[in-house]
Amino acid sequence: MAIQWFPGHMTRAKRQIQDKLKLIDIAFELLDARVPLSSRNPMIDEILNNKPRLIVLNKSDLADPKATESWMQYFAHEGHECVAVDSSTGTRVGDIPAKAKQILHEKIARQIAKGMNPRAIRALIVGIPNVGKSTLINRLAGRNIAITGDRPGVTKGQQWIRVGGDIELLDTPGILWPKFEDELVGYRLAMTGAIKEQILNVDDIAFFAVRELAGRYWPTISERYDLDAPPKDVEDSDEIVRVMEDIGRRRGCLIGGGRVDLEKTSGIILRDLRAGKLGRITLEAPYDDMPGRKD
Ligand code: G4P
Repeated sequence: MAIQWFPGHMTRAKRQIQDKLKLIDIAFELLDARVPLSSRNPMIDEILNNKPRLIVLNKSDLADPKATESWMQYFAHEGHECVAVDSSTGTRVGDIPAKAKQILHEKIARQIAKGMNPRAIRALIVGIPNVGKSTLINRLAGRNIAITGDRPGVTKGQQWIRVGGDIELLDTPGILWPKFEDELVGYRLAMTGAIKEQILNVDDIAFFAVRELAGRYWPTISERYDLDAPPKDVEDSDEIVRVMEDIGRRRGCLIGGGRVDLEKTSGIILRDLRAGKLGRITLEAPYDDMPGRKD
């Protein structure tokens, strides 16, 4: 990942967001719809500290629509409003201002009852790197805005962008860190392309990808690579390597002696996965047993 998160960085990032929270009415918590748990900051509740929040499942164009529906229900059950959007094309991005107003309607009604003219709702986007914060800001603004990282001093250099008639968005998003100390989280983020390959080995990422996909989406990968038998046990590493070798053979990734070039095969699998060629895939279901869960 571009940013190395050491404890000092986390403390600074947390403080920067908490300073910005003083300026806003609502936070838009951006998650990757393919990995809503792995793309979630482990301290988000503590950081947002009861600030009204809208959960935005971004990249929903790449996620399994049924899984996205389950996630929306899950977050609703947790007491959060949630929308699923595709910031790259703008699909459903227009729902965000409407939902924000809905969440804050009581506050707005109180201001009106006091005879006040309600001012614009002020919002901040928060999320881990690569989740699509800049893309969403540009999409909401309807133009390209040069988005820079955090600068020292909260109010200096930051600007409010008018989004629709009565919402203002802070032009610098809050950058959060994932629960990367968890190996599975790291691999899931790497599968989606959120963590660059220099950090984790390509073969290992592809191995995890095939293991996850064989469990959840076997018909999709068997069709894409013309595979016969599913692994008997997805927890058996030899079985997963056998599937990778089958894929390599189908794609002509061979080295001397009829052996499969696993590195080349891994590259193909990851490119296909990230480009959506394996279909719309979600790697986490709401009630999976996995670290980082809140319930
Ligand atoms: P960030 O500010 O949170 O760090 O993320 P950013 O907006 O830069 O988005 C990261 C990548 O994700 C970008 O791809 C962007 O186009 C893509 N992206 C953002 N939102 C969506 C979405 O809703 N759907 C899809 N399909 N893609 C989205 P990129 O610039 O090509 O970067 P990369 O692919 O080279 O890593």
